[in-house]
This record gives sequence, structure tokens and C-alpha cells, in this order.
Amino acid sequence: MSRVLAWIDRRFPLSRLIRESMTEYYAPKNFNFWYFFGSLALLVFAMQVITGIFLLAHYQPSASKAFDSIQTIMYDVKWGWLIRYLHTTGASFFFIVIYLHMLRGYLYGSYRKPRELLWIVGFVIYVCLMAEAYFGYVLPFGNMSYWGGEVITSIVGAIPYAGSWLASLARGGFGIGTATLNRFMAFHAVLVPALLGLLVVAHVLALHETGSNNPDGIEIREHLGPDGKPLDGIPFHPYYTVKDIMGVGVFLIALSLVVFYAPTVHGLFIETYNYIPANPLQTPPDVTPAWYLAPYYAMLRAIPDKKLGILVLFLAIAAPFFLPWLDRNPRAKSIRYRPVYLAMVVVLVACLLVLGWIGMQPASPALLPPARIGLALYFLFFASLPFVSRIEPTRPVPDRLRM
Ligand code: HEM
Repeated sequence: MSRVLAWIDRRFPLSRLIRESMTEYYAPKNFNFWYFFGSLALLVFAMQVITGIFLLAHYQPSASKAFDSIQTIMYDVKWGWLIRYLHTTGASFFFIVIYLHMLRGYLYGSYRKPRELLWIVGFVIYVCLMAEAYFGYVLPFGNMSYWGGEVITSIVGAIPYAGSWLASLARGGFGIGTATLNRFMAFHAVLVPALLGLLVVAHVLALHETGSNNPDGIEIREHLGPDGKPLDGIPFHPYYTVKDIMGVGVFLIALSLVVFYAPTVHGLFIETYNYIPANPLQTPPDVTPAWYLAPYYAMLRAIPDKKLGILVLFLAIAAPFFLPWLDRNPRAKSIRYRPVYLAMVVVLVACLLVLGWIGMQPASPALLPPARIGLALYFLFFASLPFVSRIEPTRPVPDRLRM
């Protein structure tokens, strides 16, 4: 083995890569469960690519065959149902993992200097993920796919000047049909996954350059021992590889429970109206998006003017991008030392949950006031952060990590 390794090392820096990213990559010793979600995101990404390749072996991107090809996968292809349910459940689990991963960033101020680029690459990944999920949603060509395709391309159509040109470019014609499915498949199966793959590599490279943050928000690289290694750091391998395996175990149990016992989660993970083939003559009673995009949909519906609504939607998606420059607390990063900031994050999460629930309900005038309050509080978080973070009371931050 060692001779084989030496042969490879003379031609490719394998041992060096393993050393630099695993056995000699020093991570803070106080990681808690919030630090599971990065490796889980890697795992779900790999699962989606692998199950997607198998689905492509039988899926047909044509308006007359797409829906039936999915039924063939479900009923005729051996283990096809398992592959498809892993892929549909994987999509929702991807967003659960990513939302928790992003929330950890908010909680511990992981977006702050020197990790601004790490955060921005993560933000671009999130935007790509939304596009990836949307293209995938249209592919089975159920009735919700069809009308979802119609609604979102019409939002693109509302962009001033270039809108109608962009909308017909996205659809491949005037309506949603075979041309749309072909281009959406090219985006869903090739372009966006390739982009995501490159971005994930950039994300991990940026992480290894700055080193991980931690629940205390204290830089461990500022306290080095005589050997030049962080006093509060432990090698990623074996300590965190073993810990991450436990996270993977819990995750796989949760995934299996959904895949085997409740794959549609009552219309939450697979829409009920997607069991009906696309029908351009019959709009489903309520066109609602997948749960993970529902907060944005509620924001869009809360604004009566279509163009203004779309502007607010884009601003809402873009707001987290600016977080590294909005949070200006000079003394602390983590919620552990910032009670006011913690309260703000709790309100923000509550708003997003309420907006998500509203986004999945049929449009109703009774839901307008809570949607508008949620929307206002969402923007208030970002607008007030530069001021609040400068004057908020901050508990004394220790020099070294607490255990
Ligand atoms: C495919 C999607 C993603 C993958 C595979 C991924 C992977 C990872 C991994 C492996 C880590 C190190 C382990 C950990 O800290 O949990 C990490 C850290 C981090 N990620 Fe991601 N990530 C993804 C998406 C995102 C997104 C959407 C954001 C934010 C918008 C983000 C922001 C961060 C930040 C700030 C850190 C450093 C956290 C800290 O040190 O406290 N990531 N990511």
C-alpha cells in the first residue's frame, strides 16, 4: 500500500491533500450539532446526482410522454419507486439541511470577517438550488408542474423591457410544452448541477482558507501553541469524521422514515395535483409553490402591485447576501454574547415560518395583514441590523473557547 501511495504522491499530491484537509486541518474543539449540516449537504447533493442519473435512464422530456414516463418509473421499472422517492424526498431534505446550515451562520455570525466570501459563495449556491428545484418541479409534467411553470415564467415576463423576450426564451415558445421540458431538463440535469459542483468546491476551499468559525464566534487561529497549531483546535480526522458519521446515521433514519412511510408528506413533498397530468385548460384551485419557496410566494402575494411585488421578491431573496456588511458589532459575533441579536434572529425565523404557512394556503384577504406584518419584520431585521449591532449590549467575550 505504502509503495502504491508513494507512486501516486510523486505524480499527484494525494497525501498532501488528505493532510491539509483532514488529518492536519484543525477545527475548533467545540462544534455542536449545528455543524453536521455542511457534511449532510454534501451527502444529499451526491444522493441527488446519483438518483437523478438513474431517473434520466427512463424519463422522457416531452409534453406527451413525460407524465407517463414517471408512472413507468414508479410501477414498471425495478426499484424505480425507490429511486424516485429518494430524489423527491432528497429535494425537500436538501432544503431542510441548507436552511439549518444557513441558520447556523446567522446564529454564530459565521458570515462575518474573514468569511465574507465563504458566505457569498454559499448564497450563490442557495440561489442555484432554488433554480435547480424549480426546473425539477416542472419536469414530471403533472398539473402543478404545468401551472408552476406558467406562473414563474410569467413572473419573468413582468421584468421591464426584456421580460416578454426572456419569458418566451425560457418557455421555448409561447406556451409550456416539449421545448420547455427539453431546456429545463438541460438546466436541471447538466448546467445547474455542474455549477453547483464548482461552487461547492469553491465553498470548501474558502472554508479551508479561513478555517471554521464555532459556537463562540472566537477565532482559534489567534491562539497558537509553540508547535504553530491552534490551542483550541483538533484534527478534523478522526474527530469530526467520526462525529459526522453519527449525524449521517440520524439523517438516514429520518430520510428512510419519509421515503418508506410517507413519501408525499400529505402533499408537502409531492404535490397532490401533480398526480394529475398537465392540463392547460384546467388550473388547479390553488397554485402554490413547494414548501421551501412558500415564504417568498407569500411576500409576492402580500403586495397588490405585480411589478412592485416582484421587486420585493428579488430584494427579499438578495437581502442575506449583504449580511457580512450589515452586522457591525465590533465586540462579538455569536448569539451567545448578543441577547438582542438572538431575539432578532428568533423573530426572523418565526416570520419566515408564518410566511411559509401563509404561502401554502389558498389566497385569502384574511391572510393579507399577517403576511404584510411578516414581510415588514423580515426587512426590518436587515434594515435595523447596522444600527442595532453597533449599540446592542454585548456580554464579555472570553479569549479562548468555552467547553
Ligand atoms: C450544496 C450546498 C452546500 C454545501 C455542500 C456546503 C458545505 C459546507 C461544509 C462541508 C462546511 C463545513 C462544515 C460545517 O461548517 O457545517 C460549510 C461551512 C459553511 N457554509 Fe456551507 N455548504 C452549502 C451551502 C451553503 C449556503 C447556502 C450557505 C449560506 C448562504 C453556506 C454558508 C456556510 C458558512 C458561513 C460556513 C462556515 C460556518 C462556520 O464555520 O461556522 N453554505 N459548508
